[in-house]
Amino acid sequence: MHLVIISGATRPRGRSNTAKIIDAFQKGYKEGGNTVEVWYLSDRKQWAGAAAAFAEQENILIALPLYVENIPGSLLEFLSCLSPKKEAGTRLAFLIQGGFPEGSQSRCCERYLETLPGQLGCEYGGTLIKGDMFGLGMTDEKSRKKMLEPFVEMGRYFADHGIFDKEKAYSFAAPEYMPKSQVRLFRLIGHFVQRIFMGRLAKQMGCKEALDAKPYEC
Ligand SMILES: Cc1cc2nc3c(=O)[nH]c(=O)nc-3n(C[C@H](O)[C@H](O)[C@H](O)COP(=O)(O)O)c2cc1C
Repeated sequence: MHLVIISGATRPRGRSNTAKIIDAFQKGYKEGGNTVEVWYLSDRKQWAGAAAAFAEQENILIALPLYVENIPGSLLEFLSCLSPKKEAGTRLAFLIQGGFPEGSQSRCCERYLETLPGQLGCEYGGTLIKGDMFGLGMTDEKSRKKMLEPFVEMGRYFADHGIFDKEKAYSFAAPEYMPKSQVRLFRLIGHFVQRIFMGRLAKQMGCKEALDAKPYEC
């Protein structure tokens, strides 16, 4: 079966975690002879092609990074340009990946995405959620492969089932909340380690102020 994947990431393909996850997912999806076309909304020149693919095809997956607990603004802009389908038969599924590890982070976005297929004349194909993906592009090859392997497996699963079953997606998103013992440990030690790590990272990216600077504070 043919699958259209639309990446709602704002970062260009080469630097996007969503793009890496899409690569892994389509690897698993294509194993049985299925085909995939991918459109990247970070490149505005691809918007017309993505909209045409949405209009013409019946098996569509929108993959996106979680931005402030919901979808990136540019994806919202793209969605608002689509015309709802007049004929039944299109299935629209979603893949959300985010930086924080808890599945609960993405539930607000999931609730919103559940409303979209109805608005666009499609059936809902489920939502796959995975957190803890912030470091995907920064980690070494071996760790990245390990982080991406579950998405290859989910590509196979999606090829077999055509949807993300709610129970399967729920266990894939785990942990829903971090265990209390881990939260306590983070407050004691992890918090300081992360401050140092994030501070260094911000410096490398050209940040000149402290990360907790409050320039607009009265
Ligand atoms: C503006 C912005 C807002 C974000 N908001 C969230 C958030 O609410 N929850 C979360 O878990 N991750 C959040 N993240 C982290 C991204 O979802 C995460 O790093 C993701 O892997 C980025 O994917 P990309 O490289 O395809 O853009 C945010 C990142 C940015 C840049």
